[in-house]
Amino acid sequence: MSPRPLLVCLPGAEHLIQRLADGLNGEIARMQFRAFPDGESYVRFETTPMNRTVVLVANLKDPDAHLLRLFFTSAAARAQGALRIGLIAPYLPYLRQDRAFHPGEAVSARHICTLLSALADWLVTLDPHLHRIDRLARILDIPSRTARSASLLADWIRARFERPVIIGPDAESRRWVVEIANQLTAPALILTKQRLDDGAVRLQTDRLRDLGTRTPIIVDDILSTGGTLCAVITALKAAGARPPVCAIIHALGDEAAETRLLKAGARQLVTTNSTRSAPGCVDITPPLIAKANTLLTPAFPPDR
Ligand code: R5P
Repeated sequence: MSPRPLLVCLPGAEHLIQRLADGLNGEIARMQFRAFPDGESYVRFETTPMNRTVVLVANLKDPDAHLLRLFFTSAAARAQGALRIGLIAPYLPYLRQDRAFHPGEAVSARHICTLLSALADWLVTLDPHLHRIDRLARILDIPSRTARSASLLADWIRARFERPVIIGPDAESRRWVVEIANQLTAPALILTKQRLDDGAVRLQTDRLRDLGTRTPIIVDDILSTGGTLCAVITALKAAGARPPVCAIIHALGDEAAETRLLKAGARQLVTTNSTRSAPGCVDITPPLIAKANTLLTPAFPPDR
């Protein structure tokens, strides 16, 4: 019998590790992560990865702070005899820059995938922000699986609101909006967004009239500054709609971004626990476990 996978909890993923270890029948590695006085990272395996499949569990919100440590951990696992390295990163960063919008720009979506492909033999993530690049397989050199949160968010909405209308701020939110609306047999509305700067957007909002007594549920995959969702909330208010609920997959913003949404008139926010643990978060470990289990089999099926 092959040994149980060895799960490594990178700093920031503490809220996910136990559920993932239970679902993957894995052992949680004893590790030391700390910073030297000058800020450089120290990584040590106290449980040997020798002859084990190692699964790195990483929270890649604030990626620049985490990626080097992830690199050292992966390199140390290989140097110490790991058979295979998987990476579970619910939030896959840098995908929004999926082309050079201005001459000379780095296409970070491609470069981050090149980097991650060098660190791991397979990857499991949740609802990656894919837009102009339609599949991860186009930019990753390793097999990957994508877990989805739509049915979990739909369940959360179904349990609380009788007549929702699902609203997406922009074309990039379409895939989540349509999937959730279909599961709820609710109407869906996709707006058009123009980004003015990092924190401000302009929306085309004429379609927001006549929502009647339906509860608007604004769905977006990412909350960063809160500018996008605030613009939708403000437009809904102006259109005389009911106070909306915001359903967010990856919460990247700080507390101020969330306060901004409530101040603008949102009645409630819900996020998944992809990047954080907070009361009431929708737990996305079940679909991550289901996908990772397909890659932990000795000869996993080809990438889809
Ligand atoms: C962009 O396409 C994403 O889906 C989000 O709408 C965007 O990243 C949100 O950013 P912010 O909260 O700063 O408006």
